[in-house]
Amino acid sequence: MRIFLLVYGLLFSSMTLYFIQQKTLQQSLEDGEAIYQDFCVQCHMSEGQGVPNAFPPLAKSDFLKNNLEQSLKGVKYGMRGPIKVNGKSYDGVMVAQGLDDEEVADVMNYVLSNWGNKLEAQITTAQIAKLSK
Ligand code: HEC
Repeated sequence: MRIFLLVYGLLFSSMTLYFIQQKTLQQSLEDGEAIYQDFCVQCHMSEGQGVPNAFPPLAKSDFLKNNLEQSLKGVKYGMRGPIKVNGKSYDGVMVAQGLDDEEVADVMNYVLSNWGNKLEAQITTAQIAKLSK
């Protein structure tokens, strides 16, 4: 009986792990949208257009496209200027929003799937976990 419980427990926890890792893109996008509305919209605005001279756009952002890893790190750990986005200079500070790795992945899947951006490959929690400062 004990062995049975052990095997059952192991099976159950590995299945849970499997499903967590296999978060579908659709689920990630739904969660990401909610995170965006809670944590990002006040600066980057509802269509990702940003605020001139203060908060850079995420919509069609060439910075995001060309510096994906730096952008992911920025959302995870925070970032400070100077940077250039779509030809305009910004020298601001974005503090880390206190998101966990899964939330960073979700919100960036959402950002990269909207407003003229292109999601080349789904961002995963594991990928964010590997990023160092
Ligand atoms: C308090 C305002 C503020 C909030 C909230 C905020 N950001 Fe930012 N964000 C900034 C500023 C300012 C910069 C530019 C920092 C710099 O000058 O280096 C920036 C830069 C960025 C960049 C890289 C530049 C670009 O435009 O492509 C990305 C990507 C980004 N933010 C995503 C997010 C996401 C996703 C969230 C929500 C989880 C978020 N930001 C929340 C202010 C904010």
